[in-house]
Amino acid sequence: MADPITEWHDEHARFGRLLDLLETQAMAFHAGEEPNYDLMRDVIHYLRHFADRFHHPREDVAFARLAERDPGLRLAVSRLLQEHRVITVTGEELLRRLDDIAADVVVERSAVEAAAVIFLVYYRHHLATEETEIVPRAAELLTPDDWAAVTAAVPTGRDPLFGDDVEARYEELSRQLKL
Ligand SMILES: [Fe+2]
Ligand SMILES: [Fe+2]
Repeated sequence: MADPITEWHDEHARFGRLLDLLETQAMAFHAGEEPNYDLMRDVIHYLRHFADRFHHPREDVAFARLAERDPGLRLAVSRLLQEHRVITVTGEELLRRLDDIAADVVVERSAVEAAAVIFLVYYRHHLATEETEIVPRAAELLTPDDWAAVTAAVPTGRDPLFGDDVEARYEELSRQLKL
C-alpha cells in the first residue's frame, strides 16, 4: 500500500479538483447560464459518500493521535473535527437543493448559488489548513503503528471515482475530470 501521507495528500488534491469543477458550474449560475446540475450532484454525492464516510473519519482518528503527541495542535485539531461536521451538513444541504432541482421542485437560484459558494469556501479553507498545518506534522509524528490503528478503526474505502473501477454513476464526472 502507498505511504499513508502520500495517499492523504493525493486525496486532498483530488478533492481540490472536484471543488474546481463545482466552482466552474457555480460560476455559470453567476453568469446567468444553466449549470450542469447532474455534474454538481455527482461531485457532492462523491464527497458525501467517500470523503465524509472514509477520509474524514480516518482523519478524526489520526488527528486524535496527533494531538496526543503534540498538545500544541489540540486547538487546530478540535477546529478541524468540528469542520468535518459542518462540511457534512453544508454538503447535505447543497445536495438537497440540487436534488430538488432534479425533481423539478422550484428552487431559488440565489439559494443554490449561495449554498454552493459556502460549501466551496469552507471546504477549500479546510483542505488548505490540513495541508499546511497538519499533514507536515503528521508526517513527522505519526508512526506506522498509528496508521495501523487508523486503518483498524476506519478501513480505507474503495474509491468509486478515482479507483480502478469507476462506478457507473460517476462515469460522466470521471470523463469531465480527464478533459
Ligand atoms: Fe478534514
Ligand atoms: Fe482531509
